[in-house]
Amino acid sequence: MSWLLANWKANTDLQTYLKLVSMIPDGSSTTIIIPPHPYIWPVSKVLPAGVKLGAQDVSIFESGAHTGEVTSEMLKEMGVSHVLVGHSERRSSSDTFGIVDRKLSRILSENLIPIICCGMDKVPSTQEDITQLADMIPSLDKCAEAFIAFEPIFAIGTGITPSIEQIDDVLKKLAVVLRSRYPKCKLNCLYGGSVNSNNIEKINALSSCDGVLVGSSSLNEKQWEHLIKSCKISS
Ligand code: PGA
Repeated sequence: MSWLLANWKANTDLQTYLKLVSMIPDGSSTTIIIPPHPYIWPVSKVLPAGVKLGAQDVSIFESGAHTGEVTSEMLKEMGVSHVLVGHSERRSSSDTFGIVDRKLSRILSENLIPIICCGMDKVPSTQEDITQLADMIPSLDKCAEAFIAFEPIFAIGTGITPSIEQIDDVLKKLAVVLRSRYPKCKLNCLYGGSVNSNNIEKINALSSCDGVLVGSSSLNEKQWEHLIKSCKISS
């Protein structure tokens, strides 16, 4: 099975989410649903057996007078096991490397599992590019398990992706660098950016790729059904 992560961003409504969740078969233990914060609780109540719950962001603060913030402890209490951090949509607004690092610390302090995104606005082709990608990820020295999502910025929400060979090449090289830097961390390497029913089989067939992080296609019933089936049968 391949990991299937659905990042719903700030889209749609509760009714749609409940329908999409109802389409996931019981036992889909490599599926992670990542709703906007207000929907985490209602979605948690209807999650099929084994399906995991993620959050799209977390506060850098442990607790206290920080209006609007949601802490890692709160997420954990709501049933969240995985937290997305370093998505390019957040890096481009407020999340500097330092902020991503502080969020990672909060995630680990609650024994949650980070999903860390990295990507640049071109296909990384040189070893220098790969090092630059790896440098976008804060230290995983204290981390037992992490998901790393390679998400080229130009591929997010555009329908454009690197070639399958390019995805394979980057994931392989990135894994070599990260595994040598953090030998104790179990790394799950994902691809994200315009994954859909036309490219999912080819992506899942890559031995370098442990799964996908999907935005838009995870909100479309037909696409979602296809993605669920494809990730279940991929090995
Ligand atoms: P997309 O988004 O599938 O809509 O390209 C992916 C992501 O932002 O994680």
